[in-house]
Amino acid sequence: MTTDFPRRPSPDGTTTPPPGCPAHGPTEGSGGPRRLHGPEAEADQRGLYEALRAEHGAVAPVLLHDDVPAWLVLGHAENLQVTRSPGQFSMDSRLWSGLRDGTVRPDHPLAPIFTWQPVCAFVEGTQHSRLRAAITESLKRLNSRGLRRYINRSSNELINKICEQGRGDLVSQFAEHLPMMVMTHIIGMPEEYNDRMVEAARDMIKGTETANASNAYVMDALHRLVARRKREPDEDFTTWLIEHEAGLTDKEAAEHLRVTLIAAYETTANLIANVLRMVFTDPRFRSRFGGGQMTLPEAVEQTLWDEPPFSAMLGRYAVSDSELGGQHIKAGDALLLGIAAANTDPLIRPDLEANMRGNRAHLAFGGGPHECPGQDIGRAIADVGVDALLMRLPDVRLTVEADTLEWTGSILSRHLVQLPVRFEPRPPQDVVATPRATPHPPSTEDWLVSSVPQPRPAVARAEPAGPVRQAEGNSPLPSRPPTADGEPVRNAPGRMWAHLVRWWRGY
Ligand code: HEM
Repeated sequence: MTTDFPRRPSPDGTTTPPPGCPAHGPTEGSGGPRRLHGPEAEADQRGLYEALRAEHGAVAPVLLHDDVPAWLVLGHAENLQVTRSPGQFSMDSRLWSGLRDGTVRPDHPLAPIFTWQPVCAFVEGTQHSRLRAAITESLKRLNSRGLRRYINRSSNELINKICEQGRGDLVSQFAEHLPMMVMTHIIGMPEEYNDRMVEAARDMIKGTETANASNAYVMDALHRLVARRKREPDEDFTTWLIEHEAGLTDKEAAEHLRVTLIAAYETTANLIANVLRMVFTDPRFRSRFGGGQMTLPEAVEQTLWDEPPFSAMLGRYAVSDSELGGQHIKAGDALLLGIAAANTDPLIRPDLEANMRGNRAHLAFGGGPHECPGQDIGRAIADVGVDALLMRLPDVRLTVEADTLEWTGSILSRHLVQLPVRFEPRPPQDVVATPRATPHPPSTEDWLVSSVPQPRPAVARAEPAGPVRQAEGNSPLPSRPPTADGEPVRNAPGRMWAHLVRWWRGY
């Protein structure tokens, strides 16, 4: 079954498809489905969501590329309802009537996102529990403190490459590299981290000819890794995945490494860039040094509300007919989680300028049984990475006005093109030895080192933790020049504070 999108009675009393109905071609702004793609839609995603909300309420009919119809879920409560009802809204794309009746061509630009694969992100029930357990339990074995040290060290390596120049682009020279350095370390192939891997990870979800070659490149590396770890187990995510009692086949292990790499890479790169943008431009963060308004972990959380790395997610597919947000959803319909729209739902956020103070009720990581299992790793990479950057380059500042920053967009996410910055040139520094991701008793507490809702020592509010300190103006100003290990020179109480912060942060 396929949904008939909302119809209005015509003046002569007959029911005709509304202007904008897929059957009659889309018309903007007329109460019918709107296109989510194209330059206009991508130029002002937030405006589009608000127009859809005004016209349709919490769930709106929309058009994907080729004017394929789908539902965009805009309401926060409705998004939660969808993610928490896998029996009604499944991730199994084979249910999509558009695919079954040929409305959606197999080479549709979003095919890499919706083409079904036997991995956790496309299955439900016991099949999902088995595959997901292998991932979550293997991720839990990571030594979170060691990982934070590795993130810090990798960040410093990247900073070493630009610090003498006094200028750089923090998207292409920092945000796009750090998550790949960390993820290749986590899965146990740090030697594979290079520009080609970064390129391939970005390219493989695009659905072009080069995307296929990139996918082959990544999969070849992952298959070799699985074979190597079966011969020589190590203390890394890949070994734990293979050894997990779920008994993944070699193919399943390689496919899940790929899922993890893809899910982690672009999202975290976006988060870092967006947090940096906020740090440079948002007065709530800038005035922190003076007024104590926002810590770095709070800035990460605020960014996840205001600029989530996935603005929308395809998809969920209706298992049977139902009603959602006042719309009649038919079995086989496709739904997009409207993450950015849900995060700005006036019912939960009447004042978009309000500081969310670390509130984690945003939907940046989805929800329900598929909720992102790597979210605290993503948070840690952004938090520690930005912290390290501001520590080493405390006078770093944007060289352009915030409102001239450019974005590239798609239906599912938007990316900052560049973050051009300047700072005082400095010599490179020695980078501390890398700790290994040794086994660790499962402990989410460690991850919550960067978690805002955790109680923090009272002193942490009075004194800025780490380098996240700014005076007036556009630059986070240094209090002291940094030393060889990346820490500013401090007086005795400062050193004590540094030790306390290190203990508290775990690195
Ligand atoms: C800021 C960074 C990240 C963001 C915004 C993000 C966001 C998401 C979202 C929205 C989903 C889909 C949830 C749903 O369908 O309800 C997801 C799934 C997933 N993410 Fe993340 N993610 C991030 C980082 C990571 C990292 C670092 C890892 C791995 C270390 C990871 C691994 C996964 C996996 C394996 C899934 C599929 C889970 C399943 O289907 O059960 N993600 N992520």
